[in-house]
Amino acid sequence: CDEMYLRYHGLLLPRETHSDESLEFAQEFKFEDDDVMAVTYPKSGTIWMQEILPLVLNGGDLTPIHTIPNWDRVPWLEEKRLALVVDKLASPRALVTHFPYNLMPPSFYTAKAKVIYVMRNPKDIMVSSYYFHQMAGFLEDPGTFDEFMDKFLEGEVLCGKWTDHMKSWRNSALGDRIMYITYEEMVQDLPASLRRISDFLGRNLTEEVIQKIAEHCSFKAMKTNNMSNFSLIPNVYMDSDKSPFLRKGTVGDWKNHFSSEQLARFISVISKELEGESFSLPWS
Ligand code: PPS
Repeated sequence: CDEMYLRYHGLLLPRETHSDESLEFAQEFKFEDDDVMAVTYPKSGTIWMQEILPLVLNGGDLTPIHTIPNWDRVPWLEEKRLALVVDKLASPRALVTHFPYNLMPPSFYTAKAKVIYVMRNPKDIMVSSYYFHQMAGFLEDPGTFDEFMDKFLEGEVLCGKWTDHMKSWRNSALGDRIMYITYEEMVQDLPASLRRISDFLGRNLTEEVIQKIAEHCSFKAMKTNNMSNFSLIPNVYMDSDKSPFLRKGTVGDWKNHFSSEQLARFISVISKELEGESFSLPWS
């Protein structure tokens, strides 16, 4: 753990992208009222939002998604890059974070910055994460799928337990500052999801612009956009021959990976941890 990861309030974070300084920088970050945050548990649709937000916020101008790598275009609040690019961010600023609600910096709670929380079926998250651990040189080898499932359910993976993350944001008292959307909804009907997002952000986009954004945020388009497919990252850090970052982009790939025993184990742990919660989720 010590070499590859640091532990921050119990959460494992890779040293390649995080440091004590970057975490301190995040805590001192001053949110502006017109900032927009996309919040995700890892592998739930983060880089998708890094494509969508600039386009929705600027009325469909393709310049940012074609000229700025996603990690600088819509940086992670907690990662090292933020300090390097914060002064160059277009206004209004868009950021992403994997932080649970309770680790957000003090200025977040008092600002009016809007939040889009993207959720995904945790079984598909786990599959996506399993392949990501194989291809990312800065993450621990995941071992077998079964071993990785144990780690996932125990929260000994990036950003801790999925259930903790979800509960923290679902129970946040952010009122109409927060909107919830699922990865599945986005896969099923991207234009409708874009309309929801743009309405939430107070952007009145024409149907033509919505269609244009949908086209450029499709899995296929992102996979060939060098500013979004991580092809600028050397293979030692991300080896797309092992598994591309934009891997499948589908719903239900877990069915190709889970045995019936694993499914039962997974559901039993997750449902126990969600017992008594007032929100409902679209997955069993
Ligand atoms: S990370 O590491 O947390 O930033 O990863 P994240 O971006 O959250 O999640 C990666 C998964 O999102 C899929 N993805 C997409 N699916 C459909 N359409 C689009 N446009 C899209 N962009 C990213 C990506 O393929 C990963 O999922 P899997 O299941 O592995 O394919």
